[in-house]
Amino acid sequence: MQPDPHLVTVFNYYRDAEMRGATLLIRLCNMTGPGDVQTALSRHICDETRHAWLWTKRIMDIGGVVVPLDDGYQRRIGRVGLPRTIFDIFALTVVVEQRALTRYNEHLARPDVDADTRKTLEDVSKDEHWHIGWMESAAKEMARAKGDEKLYDIAIAKYRVIDDEVTIELNKFESGTFGFSFSHPFKPEDIEIARHYREKGARTMQDERNSEPPGVRAAAAAALGGI
Ligand SMILES: [Fe+2]
Ligand SMILES: [Fe+2]
Repeated sequence: MQPDPHLVTVFNYYRDAEMRGATLLIRLCNMTGPGDVQTALSRHICDETRHAWLWTKRIMDIGGVVVPLDDGYQRRIGRVGLPRTIFDIFALTVVVEQRALTRYNEHLARPDVDADTRKTLEDVSKDEHWHIGWMESAAKEMARAKGDEKLYDIAIAKYRVIDDEVTIELNKFESGTFGFSFSHPFKPEDIEIARHYREKGARTMQDERNSEPPGVRAAAAAALGGI
């Protein structure tokens, strides 16, 4: 049976968001000094890469293809301009983490979620709470050190505008491609819409094979044999 193209695509977008989240945190490691911040960042990076792996595994388990994306959430945020200072990266990360948690919760709120996907959504969501908490405290502390606590609220408000625009764009892309978004409340007709797109194959990522030579793909497939 063909994998559900809607799920394969959404899981690839979730995976991309986790991978790029980890990338941003690694950048922060190179910008901050020794001590507790490095330690917290290391733990945080470990979580985000684990989340990326859980979505990778989910894609594989439903028979989908893992696809690198260049139009995911962070790439779209980046087009508006990525922050350069440590304070701004912390503030942006708070907004990004809140968006991830909101999106996972919206998906979880729907009744049309299979048990394994629900388990993955719950697993990744539980880590996002401490991610938001520590980044928020650190960013607020930096604003206080700059002499004005309001700088935190101003930065968050700035990134929330960008996040809202990107989220609307992505939900529109999802609904336009697959008939509905997992961000939206469930409607009974979604069952029929999902069946239609499954049968049609939609604009499926299954067709997008990577460009590695067959020998490289074979070596990767062999490495994955035991997973
Ligand atoms: Fe995550
Ligand atoms: Fe996170």
